[in-house]
Amino acid sequence: MSGNHYAIEFQGVSLAFDGNVILNRVSFGVRYGEAKIVMGGSGTGKSTLLRLTLGLIKPDEGRILIDGEDITDYSEEKMMEVRGKVGMVFQEGALFDSLSVYDNVAYRLRETRVAESEIGSIVMRMLRFVDLEDAAGKMPNELSGGMRRRVGIARALVGNPKIILYDEPTAGLDPITARTICELVLKLRDLEEVSSIFVTHRLQDIDVLSREYVMRDDRGDIVFMHEDETLCLLNTQFIMLREGNVIFNGTDEELRASGDPYIRKFLA
Ligand SMILES: Nc1ncnc2c1ncn2[C@@H]1O[C@H](COP(=O)(O)OP(=O)(O)O)[C@@H](O)[C@H]1O
Ligand SMILES: [Mg+2]
Repeated sequence: MSGNHYAIEFQGVSLAFDGNVILNRVSFGVRYGEAKIVMGGSGTGKSTLLRLTLGLIKPDEGRILIDGEDITDYSEEKMMEVRGKVGMVFQEGALFDSLSVYDNVAYRLRETRVAESEIGSIVMRMLRFVDLEDAAGKMPNELSGGMRRRVGIARALVGNPKIILYDEPTAGLDPITARTICELVLKLRDLEEVSSIFVTHRLQDIDVLSREYVMRDDRGDIVFMHEDETLCLLNTQFIMLREGNVIFNGTDEELRASGDPYIRKFLA
């Protein structure tokens, strides 16, 4: 482990589908405890990047490391072990419609043969974290869009992964609901030291994740704070993809100061 600073690292990763280059020698690292926000237009390979991180697809070229371990050539069997460290939050929540909220969150535990007696307390702890304890018995079609995403996050938290991948978890949500999702991401980043990749188009997400943080006060209650003149948050960083290339990699301050016309247009 010596010298490894990254929870996730891409080293010169290239991938083409049917001759179309989707990622062109993409390199970046996500430090431990960092949220890496990935931006880019539709079809620029953002979801592909997450699927590569999970080892669901393999790159044509380059290396991918998870927690210092080079997973590029791992078999499906070895990948299953690595995926235990990684939670995935899909775009639409991706719940099983025929299963209750409780059973959706319990799904992976049952799959890995955790004793039923332990499952209850784990599932309820996850649902408490996303503030959905009361919805345990509900079916997905009884939930609002925001609640479905939160169930998706609760499900990803099973196994206490130290890495979480979020694929546009706020897309299509109203601003208040989107904020509740971002607040969960802040709690995981700042209280659990989760490392993450967070794909989004929303400027509101960018503002919340790059300027706010979470602490516990003297009584142990969670408080949301805002960076000020004395404190500049460094645990959220950005990359922007365009036509297969990383055209930006840095902090929100650098992003907002960028003169690149594509970035300016994106932020306008
Ligand atoms: N399995 C696949 N086979 C062929 N083309 C694919 C496959 N997966 C994704 N693509 C293509 O790769 C490009 C990037 O897709 P994706 O990563 O889903 O983009 P994004 O998430 O940034 O919108 C798109 O043009 C998409 O059509
Ligand atoms: Mg996508």
